[in-house]
Amino acid sequence: MRIKYIIIPIAALFLFGNVSAQRVNQTPIQHKIDYMVKRMTLEEKINMLHGNALFSSGGVKRLGIPELTCDDGPLGVREEIKRFDWNSANWTTDSATFLPNGSAIAATWNPALANKYGVVIGEEANARKKDIMLAPAFNICRMPLCGRTYEYYSEDPFLNSQLAIQSVKGIQSQHVAACIKHFAANNQELNRDSVNTIVDERALREIYFPAFKAAVQQGNAYTVMSAYNKVNGYWCSENDFLLNKVLKNEWGFKGAVMSDWSGVHHTVAAANNGLDIEMGSSGPYDKWYFAKPLLEAVKSGQVSVKTIDDKVRRILWLIYHTSMSSNHPKGSIATPAHAKAAYDIASESIVLLKNDAHLLPLKVNNIKSIAVIGDNAVRTFALGGYGAGVKAQHEITALEGIKSKFGKTASVTFAQGYKAKYLANNTDAQNSGYDQPDQTLIDQAVALAKTTDVAILCIGSNREYESEGHDRKNLELPFGEQALVNAVTAANPNTIIVIMAGAPYDLNEIKKSNHTIVWSWFNGSEAGNALADVLKGVVNPSGRLPFTFPVSLNDSPASALNTYPGKDLTAEYKEGILVGYRWYDTKKIDPLYCFGYGLSYTNFTYTDLTTNKKTYKPDDKITVSLKVKNTGSVAGKEVVQLYISKLNSLVLRPEKELKAFKKIMILPAKTAAISVNIDIKDLAYFDSKLSKWTIEPGQYQLMAASSSKDIRQTATFNIK
Ligand code: BGC
Repeated sequence: MRIKYIIIPIAALFLFGNVSAQRVNQTPIQHKIDYMVKRMTLEEKINMLHGNALFSSGGVKRLGIPELTCDDGPLGVREEIKRFDWNSANWTTDSATFLPNGSAIAATWNPALANKYGVVIGEEANARKKDIMLAPAFNICRMPLCGRTYEYYSEDPFLNSQLAIQSVKGIQSQHVAACIKHFAANNQELNRDSVNTIVDERALREIYFPAFKAAVQQGNAYTVMSAYNKVNGYWCSENDFLLNKVLKNEWGFKGAVMSDWSGVHHTVAAANNGLDIEMGSSGPYDKWYFAKPLLEAVKSGQVSVKTIDDKVRRILWLIYHTSMSSNHPKGSIATPAHAKAAYDIASESIVLLKNDAHLLPLKVNNIKSIAVIGDNAVRTFALGGYGAGVKAQHEITALEGIKSKFGKTASVTFAQGYKAKYLANNTDAQNSGYDQPDQTLIDQAVALAKTTDVAILCIGSNREYESEGHDRKNLELPFGEQALVNAVTAANPNTIIVIMAGAPYDLNEIKKSNHTIVWSWFNGSEAGNALADVLKGVVNPSGRLPFTFPVSLNDSPASALNTYPGKDLTAEYKEGILVGYRWYDTKKIDPLYCFGYGLSYTNFTYTDLTTNKKTYKPDDKITVSLKVKNTGSVAGKEVVQLYISKLNSLVLRPEKELKAFKKIMILPAKTAAISVNIDIKDLAYFDSKLSKWTIEPGQYQLMAASSSKDIRQTATFNIK
């Protein structure tokens, strides 16, 4: 007996410790996993399948298997909280980099920046000894009011996929697991933990799944978080179709599925239908579905030991790639390089919506005084509301950024303009009046704006108004901001509207009445510097909208079809595949600002669009070539968007679908030759009746575009 207890720790050292790192490297991971599983008792195995604290799940000390630690993203590595409650642990070493929010990353249309985001998250997670980051989050932006739109990327599955792959690769390059979330069809916060989403398989396959599939198959994501909602009648945490059939069997996912926090409902159903780890918010942990009740279920034969072993193997697999990987990086936190990454992302995410008076970039020599107006000019966005945030080591506000970039040559003064009287956790009654203007603050802002050369009005929402757990009630700008905009615009003809928010808003009046509109986001630690550099022209804006801004909420599919928030806790996605611009284009509804829209300080012309062949076979690749010329006087980045449309389709197809894009820097008067490949198989649609991807033969149109509505060149080709 004694010998056994001596041998096992030594074996554990051999497998996990640094001493034998060389030999560990040479041992194939599957052998190590076999070795461990054979030596574990059933109780030890089950101990690994559920949380043992708010952000960790059990290990097996006896065998040297560490517990798994995780932390929230996606905005950065969340501050350390106490082991058993949500209060701050009051550390002094957990100040982190606040990275731009998901829709900001998506607005860069730059997968390399998504990768950079991931690397920063991974490095900071290592510095905090976290094995799994609960990021990225990329549910499809189906409904503009969804409170987590700011965390998510886009309404388009292709853009979503390209960013998801690179965020995951970036995080995992640091031997930290990404946890891609929330699988699947978690597109509204209202009733999120009780709603049954009814969505047809074609829409799942074409719209809601692609980024998850790509993050698993191309990004090699180590963990997946199941969503709170039901999909087609079954909770996502016990959904055989989602977890077993599609994720694990079809896509070959090797890692572990963890539940969203307290998102498990049954022991046997969850265990048999694909969930591996139960996570949640409060103990007693041994009473959780995947603790003692699971042990009982195995003993009574309702869950097999084989099923338990599969879960343990998946967790060990991810442990060997993360906390117990060889050459595990040490990590670093809130470094200047991380701030630079945050700046790079922020500066490419800002979208120039309107510049009719050519007021931007600001001509520094002519500007002696700037009024910066609006609560958002001095507000930080790292924290707030109900969702995860970051204890930011620093966060440059718009006012700070403008002062630092313009303060040497101009006086920069501030007026608050409006009060942001809204807290996510308040009742509606407590928040009542949040949409009313404050006349005293407006008068002060107007008085200031009258005296300056330029007024920069920083409005929008904030992290209380857009929050996890809540959807907005309408698209209107909050806090009486429109009244402020009207008054300041009347007082100063050189008014620039800067909107900071993470989701679409109603900008009808502003678009009509204002000549200069800039869209920024919850843009991270360096937000103010990035914004000021765009205003100054140090950065030529190159952000493009990752979702449509509808003219009216009623135009959007969920509202038009009256499927939000659903009836009797059932939300039927009647629009099917017609999500985002697929809906607006196909239904011929003009949006306020379309998907892919954004201006630059220069102009680009497109010529010479060609495909390498005229007719393709299903296994072929199209090589698309075109030339893009910068016809202006400053360098700039253009986002070349390639959409495809099936002509005379026999089935319902969206009017057009994004199938490739490329962001490219072009110097003034220079022409860039662009070449992009599109696989013919990616033009398939999912035939629900046959339950398979189908490539329609016939004629297709290829569109080279500067936005989904700004088609510059077209070409046609055939598929045999
Ligand atoms: C959210 C997840 C998050 C988890 C842990 C849940 O409420 O939906 O995105 O990772 O809490 O904080």
